[in-house]
Amino acid sequence: MIRTPRGTKDILPSDMKKWNFIEQKFAETCKLFSYKEIRTPIFENTEVFSGGVGEGTDIVGKEMYTFDDRGGNQMTLRPEMTASLVRSAIEHNLMDTGVQRLWYYGPFFRYERPQKGRQRQFHQFGAELLGSASPMADIEIISLCTQLISSCGIRNYKLLLNSLGNKSSRAKYLSNLKDYLKDNRDNLSEVSQTRLEQNPLRILDSKSPDDRKIIDSAPLLINFLDDKSSDHFAKVKELLSTININYEVEPKLVRGLDYYSHTVFEFQSTSLGAQDAFGGGGRYNELFEQLGGKNVPAVGFAMGAERLLLILESLGKLPKDEECIDIYIISADKNIEDIICKTRDYLLSENISTLCDINSRSFKAQFKEANKLNAKWVLIIGTNEIESGKFTLKNMQTSEQIEILISEIPSYINKL
Ligand code: HAM
Repeated sequence: MIRTPRGTKDILPSDMKKWNFIEQKFAETCKLFSYKEIRTPIFENTEVFSGGVGEGTDIVGKEMYTFDDRGGNQMTLRPEMTASLVRSAIEHNLMDTGVQRLWYYGPFFRYERPQKGRQRQFHQFGAELLGSASPMADIEIISLCTQLISSCGIRNYKLLLNSLGNKSSRAKYLSNLKDYLKDNRDNLSEVSQTRLEQNPLRILDSKSPDDRKIIDSAPLLINFLDDKSSDHFAKVKELLSTININYEVEPKLVRGLDYYSHTVFEFQSTSLGAQDAFGGGGRYNELFEQLGGKNVPAVGFAMGAERLLLILESLGKLPKDEECIDIYIISADKNIEDIICKTRDYLLSENISTLCDINSRSFKAQFKEANKLNAKWVLIIGTNEIESGKFTLKNMQTSEQIEILISEIPSYINKL
């Protein structure tokens, strides 16, 4: 049997109601906040991500699906959206018309070791606010996330917050951190030793117990913020409190993408196990310039759809996959296909969802099917009914039956 590739999943018809539920919640929340949808290609020139997300990150270094197309151009299946979206905003001069509020949803690809909540093809919802350096923009994005989370019925989660400061604060901190880590080099894990030169910030994310001991006493970026960066962070915290969004400052939160500056944040849930972050984001004031654009401050977030579903599943907050149709036509005579087709066609044209048997099954089997489909009504058509012109319509809830002309059905059932 040919199966789905490792780390990918089919979304079967029986799962669709749950997916549509969260997709709808997200679209509604974005509409509430006046965000507009954007769609970009699933693959991009590799430089969008190597230049945008950063050569030193795990995503670019180890996880990208990169290939040469038949023309010899190097392409990458998008591992995330922010770099693609900024590429698109630059290419189409979107900033010429001022601040942009954009949202997206779709599949993303990372070659990671699959486990609960971690796939190689996964889905993200995200929103990006382009063209503002104000802390109010950070707040808008975070509050869009919390609104989405609460509209899905999730109450129990943590919002972790940190500031990575501006470029010069980060540079000062990085040289300090590097010195500290170099002094402890021999006790670092092998992976962290290799990260020391390329991306020392990522060492703070390490789960290795040896690394953790060293990280616990490492210098903190928050103590290296210059006045401007500190003021920005203070205002973000103040405004979050003003609108009653609870957060915890986590000074070691660095996130896995190189483009961040100032505010970074992550949403964590205890319902998830090891992969406990179900959403995250932050400010990226330098990304436009990195990808060849003008200086455009921006902030955004993305949420993993699979992880959101896992949380909602564990809380029992997902809608059941219940089918429901208006009318199931039961035919008591195998030779009246023309009447069945005509009747169904008429009812469908009146916007009444209608199904009928197409495999010449017994009367009993057809009734069973009508029950399974939660039909509100069954319409019984047999030779006698055709002669009288009136068909039997049975209300499946009350079991009441009436004789009715086909043309009277729409107004009859819409009245009830
Ligand atoms: P990220 O933290 O890499 O951020 O991903 C955001 C979310 O996508 C994660 O919190 C997680 O829920 C989900 N996710 C990531 N990788 C996987 C995976 N392999 N399997 C399942 N779910 C996954 C970004 O992608 C940034 N672009 C977010 C952002 C937008 N920052 C600013 N704007």
